[in-house]
Amino acid sequence: MKILFLGDVVGISGRSMILNNLLSKIKDKKIDFVVVNGENAADTGMGLTESICKDFFNCGVDVITTGNHVWAQKETVSHIEKENRLLRPRNLFAASPGKGFGIFTAKNEMKVGVLNLMGNVFMKKCEDVFESADKFLQKYKLKEHYDFLIVDFHAEVTSEKMAIGHFFDGKATLVVGTHTHIPTNDERVLKNGTAYQTDAGMCGDYDSVIGMNKENSINRFLKKKSIKHFPAIGDATLCGVIVDCDIETGLAKKIEKFIYGGELKNSH
Ligand code: FE2
Repeated sequence: MKILFLGDVVGISGRSMILNNLLSKIKDKKIDFVVVNGENAADTGMGLTESICKDFFNCGVDVITTGNHVWAQKETVSHIEKENRLLRPRNLFAASPGKGFGIFTAKNEMKVGVLNLMGNVFMKKCEDVFESADKFLQKYKLKEHYDFLIVDFHAEVTSEKMAIGHFFDGKATLVVGTHTHIPTNDERVLKNGTAYQTDAGMCGDYDSVIGMNKENSINRFLKKKSIKHFPAIGDATLCGVIVDCDIETGLAKKIEKFIYGGELKNSH
């Protein structure tokens, strides 16, 4: 059983790389289940639309996760109620539309739980992520409610991400960070069998500032007059991880970085 998780898709560049390559990568690498963080996939780099979700599902994505920009495109507020394969962070305030967790069927018929959480440090206000994770783990158990559990932890700081990784160790198949758009070099299987990487990186143009046009981004830091922020449109790199899972335990046997195309050194 192999899971592919891809980090934050940014704008047209990230989307077209996914649409042109994902199906063939799924076939080549014998992937059974695909999760993509889509919260920056819209043309503006903020949020996503119903038609973007449709495109992703048509090219092999099983579940789309999000984060702090989930509501940037207004239509998502109603679309998320109709589309259970689109998740928002579970620890958003209770009245928020949509869900932060679901159990889905993989291409090989196995049951995969996907949980989307958001950090508290330097992020938009949301419920305490550790309390939310603790409540979740009291309710749901690996091999009882699902065969595998994937946690997308959308957060800014590495310490909070590592702590969540260890918190789920032995109780999830994969904990992977998103949001910083830079792939970290720490992929490993933790002591109790959970695959972990602090950040998956983005699927976007790396000749940029985290996916956004670099000149405009520098001008904003220089406090110079800048036009509305927009994504870079060069060739994208797909960034994520591939996890080889143990069918008996639901835990990870191996995690490898997946980096394909564009500016970064390719791996896997
Ligand atoms: Fe984000």
